[in-house]
Amino acid sequence: MKAKITYSLIAIFSISIALQANKPKWGATGHRTVGAIAEKYLTKKSKKAINKILKGHSLAFYSTFADEIKSDNKYRKYSPWHYVNFDFDTKYDRSKANKKGDLIQAIETCLAVLKDGKSSKKDKTFYLKMLIHFMGDLHQPLHVGRGEDRGGNDIKVKWFNKPSNLHRVWDSNMIDSYNMSYTELAKNADKLSKAQVQALQKGTLLDWVYESQALAKTVYGSANNGDKLYYRYSYDYLSTVRFQLQKGGLRLAKVLNDIFG
Ligand code: ADE
Ligand code: ZN
Ligand code: ZN
Repeated sequence: MKAKITYSLIAIFSISIALQANKPKWGATGHRTVGAIAEKYLTKKSKKAINKILKGHSLAFYSTFADEIKSDNKYRKYSPWHYVNFDFDTKYDRSKANKKGDLIQAIETCLAVLKDGKSSKKDKTFYLKMLIHFMGDLHQPLHVGRGEDRGGNDIKVKWFNKPSNLHRVWDSNMIDSYNMSYTELAKNADKLSKAQVQALQKGTLLDWVYESQALAKTVYGSANNGDKLYYRYSYDYLSTVRFQLQKGGLRLAKVLNDIFG
């Protein structure tokens, strides 16, 4: 009897771990890297304001908050906020926008709440945590991918002989296989001149959306359903992932400095 209960507990535990491992997301390391890079580009003034809102926790610390709340039904309505799908040949058009929300509407909502002097402290805290995460998602090209294949989630591939999909390869497989902590990834981001930083921080939210979408086209061309991916794939695309994380960080800092700096 005792053994039966023990085996059942082991089974439940293993299944829950397996389900957790299968959850699609720009992995924790990617999001934390974006947060850690952003920290380096915050003005003193915005750092102070943000510190107050986040009670001393870092941007990296809260970068995964929007993924963590997915397991709570209370927050279900925020699920479509993590991505945006629209036709590659047409411009994003508000009238056709997903009524349940999308990544663009999400970021705009966060910015509006944070800019509004009348917003409550509670709202500012919640939407700041969400914004940190969504600026990361915006730079995962397949979060601006095609709706038909759910941003590459339906393109099944093997990653070093283990079942995966193209979306997950870009969310986490390449980053996790590289096996660097988020602090190391942030520290080892390519060195940029002031002019390069300014150039990357230029543009509107929609400019950044189209940039990710253009990259999504390349990603779709990089692998087919059933492909077996190994070292060569990271050799070809990890530098792109690292640059996306860097741009995510720089632009997160930019929008935060615009509000708080
Ligand atoms: N995750 C779940 N559905 C998605 C979609 N349609 N596009 C991008 N990411 C997703
Ligand atoms: Zn994802
Ligand atoms: Zn997300």
